[in-house]
Amino acid sequence: MESNLDPDDMWGSDTIVGSGSEIAVAGPEDMQDDEFDTSDFDTSSINMFGSVSSSIYRHSYENGRRYHKYRYGTYPIPNDETEQNREDMKHVAMLELTRGKNFFAPIGDHPQKIIDLGTGTGTWAIEVADMFPAAEVVGCDLSPIQPLWVPSNVRFIIDDIEDEWAHGDNWDLVHIRQVFPAIQDPPGVCRQSFNHLNPGGWIEVQDFGGILKCDDDTFRTDSMLTQFYDMTTEALSKRGIRWTIANNMDEVLKDIGFVNIACKRFKIPIGIWPKAKRLRLVGLYMKSVFGDLIDALAPIVFPLLSKSSQQMEEFVTKAQDELQTTTAHIYLDYFFWYAQRPLAD
Ligand SMILES: C[S@@+](CC[C@H](N)C(=O)[O-])C[C@H]1O[C@@H](n2cnc3c(N)ncnc32)[C@H](O)[C@@H]1O
Repeated sequence: MESNLDPDDMWGSDTIVGSGSEIAVAGPEDMQDDEFDTSDFDTSSINMFGSVSSSIYRHSYENGRRYHKYRYGTYPIPNDETEQNREDMKHVAMLELTRGKNFFAPIGDHPQKIIDLGTGTGTWAIEVADMFPAAEVVGCDLSPIQPLWVPSNVRFIIDDIEDEWAHGDNWDLVHIRQVFPAIQDPPGVCRQSFNHLNPGGWIEVQDFGGILKCDDDTFRTDSMLTQFYDMTTEALSKRGIRWTIANNMDEVLKDIGFVNIACKRFKIPIGIWPKAKRLRLVGLYMKSVFGDLIDALAPIVFPLLSKSSQQMEEFVTKAQDELQTTTAHIYLDYFFWYAQRPLAD
């Protein structure tokens, strides 16, 4: 086992590496269609995978927010501009956190095929396509929210990643970022990835730990923000979702047969309290991301816990107020898990 602490204050990453298979560590009632112009999208690549009709390019609306219409309700968070801005802000925060790294899996300089499952706005896929112009890069999502003008080696498909794999074989990297705490069967997605990777190919799963942390006594354990995370964990578990699964991805990957399982864990601050300028910036982004997450998730979490809209509104107001005013040294763990399909099965 290896464990390195980055010297950038206490806010670097630690690396936990295992070798071989030894792991060292750790209803759409209010729906209305919009007039999305399907002709703007290149559907030829999508039809290749046999998935769609034009209706998947529509959206649904509820509580003043816009949601994906294809497989409506599968992903409970909106896909509107507010949410897309939140996603892109998280992306920038990740790049600051990692000093510009989009992934850590050692895929070499000449990957041929990379797929990003749950690609969202497609920003990661586009950047990786630019990094490897000779590679084919595919982004897959339920929501048709990816840009139209993209590098020629990237394409997007609309599909449910929990369906049977329809994306071909011989992938060098399957990448999944911030998707597993929202889906039913992360092990199933990892298993399908395993089966369709090249022997020796890599999977990388990046995600938040889903537990609000503080290493000193600046944070009250009964805070509204902690309550929000606890309630989210409880509510999503009623939908069969493990909000904190990123803490235990080693178990999932090992069970499937992945080897060379490794993890980089970063602490990602919320708020502008760290000393290091770079991390203050990350904390600033994350504060905004967290505020928008509370608004986006509350309409899911409160009904699942049989709480009224009035309770929700009161809670959200107090939680947002606390988020804006707190000086507590709060952070989340952020994990980069990567693992390899064995060269010979
Ligand atoms: C938090 S966003 C992350 C987006 C992107 N990976 C990133 O890091 O910028 C989660 C994304 O997963 C997508 N998603 C959730 N469940 C999905 C599923 N079953 N099939 C395909 N995409 C899914 C959502 O539509 C959303 O775009």
